Amino acid sequence: MKFEYLNPTRLVFGAGSLSRLGEMAGTYGKRALLVTGGGSVKRSGTFERARNSLADAGITVFECEGVEPNPRISSVKRGAATARDNACDLIVALGGGSVMDASKVIAAAVLYDGDPWDMIHHGQPQPHVPTEALPLITVPTLAATGSEMNCGAVISNAETREKSFVQAECLYPKVALLDPELTVTVPKDQTAYGVCDLITHITESYFNGTGDTPIQDRFAEGVILTAMEYGPKAIADGNDLNARAQVQWAATVALNGWLSAGSGSAGYPVHMIEHTVSAFHDITHAAGLAIINPAWMRFAAKSNTAKFVQFAQRIFGLDAKGSDDLDCASAGIDRFEAFLKSIGCPTRLSELGLDDRLIETYAKETLRIVHDENGLLPGRPAMSEADVVGVLRAAL
Ligand code: NZQ
Ligand code: ZN
Repeated sequence: MKFEYLNPTRLVFGAGSLSRLGEMAGTYGKRALLVTGGGSVKRSGTFERARNSLADAGITVFECEGVEPNPRISSVKRGAATARDNACDLIVALGGGSVMDASKVIAAAVLYDGDPWDMIHHGQPQPHVPTEALPLITVPTLAATGSEMNCGAVISNAETREKSFVQAECLYPKVALLDPELTVTVPKDQTAYGVCDLITHITESYFNGTGDTPIQDRFAEGVILTAMEYGPKAIADGNDLNARAQVQWAATVALNGWLSAGSGSAGYPVHMIEHTVSAFHDITHAAGLAIINPAWMRFAAKSNTAKFVQFAQRIFGLDAKGSDDLDCASAGIDRFEAFLKSIGCPTRLSELGLDDRLIETYAKETLRIVHDENGLLPGRPAMSEADVVGVLRAAL
């Protein structure tokens, strides 16, 4: 095993920690752009508390509201213009993954003279990977993406029908302030999608890794089991603060690099395919994942059977005849899909009103944006266009 791990984000976790926002922010700036979504933080009173905490610390607040789910590059440009016009020296993201992702790219766009869409990998020969950004503080109000403590962002372009990512060290937030109390107002469906998203982040590195990574496997299985135990509790009773806290911590650790460090993960094929479907239909990210992941698992289990048998045994306690027991592997996938259904996630494209008309286009687009030197979608196994089409057909 050879690997390097860096995560420079300071993590502050616990109910009530929103009150420390001003104290944290004061270290980094005096003029903050406070970025929010479609209004949930205003309805819940979270926005006012955040603004007051910043004001009490002597920080002047400027606002960028209205970042949409599957955040658009147009919102990034609007936010960057506001930050520039007001000489902001700090960005504060208060919202879900969409707000946090938009905030990251705003933080870099403020210091970049070109078009911020250059930063997003959308198949251009040489994306502009940013090397500098304003300091960013993330305050997630929804447990799902892990964006609060990683250096990635996913942005959509409605005009070109593309949705893709940027990853750069300068995009790590300075501070991630995690207050599970802020998530109690998240509705049941978004809570379930968050659970699905975080588990999919883990399964992507678990199943696409090199194997022979016993510590990472046990970490991954522990977080999956915890999410499967506390996720349904948070969905059943949104005010169950302990369940909210467990789910929020699970979401953060699922994608802050710790679980995947050293796993030799070859890629995020389920995410890459989902991003294309989202780009065409603006579907909720994890609704797409709940549909594509089980179909992808059935495809990958044929060649990586032993890992799927391990998943079936350790997550669902199933018995296997041996590490090549494909029936056991398949039963584990069936149980996983049943779990997703039980928490209210869709598991077929038809449930979102999608049919097979654009399946070839989704596959082509996915591979146009992300491919290895052989033109395949990275993963284990790497996927051809026909493989992607096969997985999507199985998900109809
Ligand atoms: O916009 P508002 O009014 O705030 O409402 C949001 C939105 O409608 C609502 N919400 C958020 N917090 C709430 C709340 N409602 C009530 N109470 C609260 N406390 O939830 C809805 C969904 O919000 P959104 O931010 O879109 O959800 P999520 O956190 O799932 O983020 C999804 C985005 O993140 C990207 C996805 O592709 C998608 O664009 N991802 C980012 C990643 C990253 N940066 O590492 C990794 C992920 O795999 C993912 O791709
Ligand atoms: Zn995701």
